Amino acid sequence: MAPSLGSHYHAIASQMAIYRESNQRLAQAAGLKPGMRVVDLACGSGLTSLAALDVVPQGLHLTLIDSSQSMIDEARQNVGARGAEATYHVADAITVGQLVSEKVDRVLCNLSLWYFAQPEEVLRELRKVIKPTGRLCFTLLGSYFNVGGEVVSPYWALVKVLHERGALPRALPDVDRLPNQRSIEGTLLGAGFKPLSFALDEFDAPDEELANWLRLYPIAPGATRAEAAEKSLALLESARDEVAAWKPRWRTVRFEAQPQVNPEEILLAKFAGKK
Ligand SMILES: C[S@@+](CC[C@H](N)C(=O)[O-])C[C@H]1O[C@@H](n2cnc3c(N)ncnc32)[C@H](O)[C@@H]1O
Repeated sequence: MAPSLGSHYHAIASQMAIYRESNQRLAQAAGLKPGMRVVDLACGSGLTSLAALDVVPQGLHLTLIDSSQSMIDEARQNVGARGAEATYHVADAITVGQLVSEKVDRVLCNLSLWYFAQPEEVLRELRKVIKPTGRLCFTLLGSYFNVGGEVVSPYWALVKVLHERGALPRALPDVDRLPNQRSIEGTLLGAGFKPLSFALDEFDAPDEELANWLRLYPIAPGATRAEAAEKSLALLESARDEVAAWKPRWRTVRFEAQPQVNPEEILLAKFAGKK
């Protein structure tokens, strides 16, 4: 029997540099402390929460949200094994305002936020659930981001090569049409957030990284996940040299933002409940 989507994802993603590095850097930069309430949005198999627990092993109150039941089942197993206090929801990110009753200190969202159908709407909902002193911390894939300059990601280069050869019906957009730091910061401002920081993270990954990416996200059609992955890997083999000629780099970008608030809102939040 084929493994569930969640366990298939976890077995591969937990071996990949892109997930390890992005989750570690996200969790380490988030200023996590014991006692904090943390939402892990689009949690997948729980890798972001596990990275957060590496930074603060005890005392976090985690809420994990993902639209896939199978991912949540896997996350419950992985995060539960650490003995962490955690609540799990199978739900669309856009419903976050209904799921979180008490405002939170941090929302962590790794490699997901801009790929939702309505990221602006999700941001507006997140604005409502983050404390005035809290932070939204998220990463995005370099493949879907314009970092400036000519350097592209291995995945972007592969899709480009295969599309030009006629092997794929659709290409990824030209790099200069992808979101960039300014456009994303503009969207954050429009949703009621103040951008705090931006970082570009580059890292080396083994050759196997792109093959693993295709095992998770096949680009060729197939009757089953395994067949689609097999066909995608054959396409990769046929294009390795052309992809290498782009000198691509694995990259993610990291943003931190805070709710835009007036000083009175901060004081009210600070002294709420103190008489
Ligand atoms: C690239 S994975 C990232 C998972 C995790 N953040 C990590 O770093 O391993 C994207 C996840 O987003 C979830 N997802 C996609 N659309 C969603 C939505 N609208 N609401 C909630 N989760 C969603 C998918 O089920 C998947 O688990």
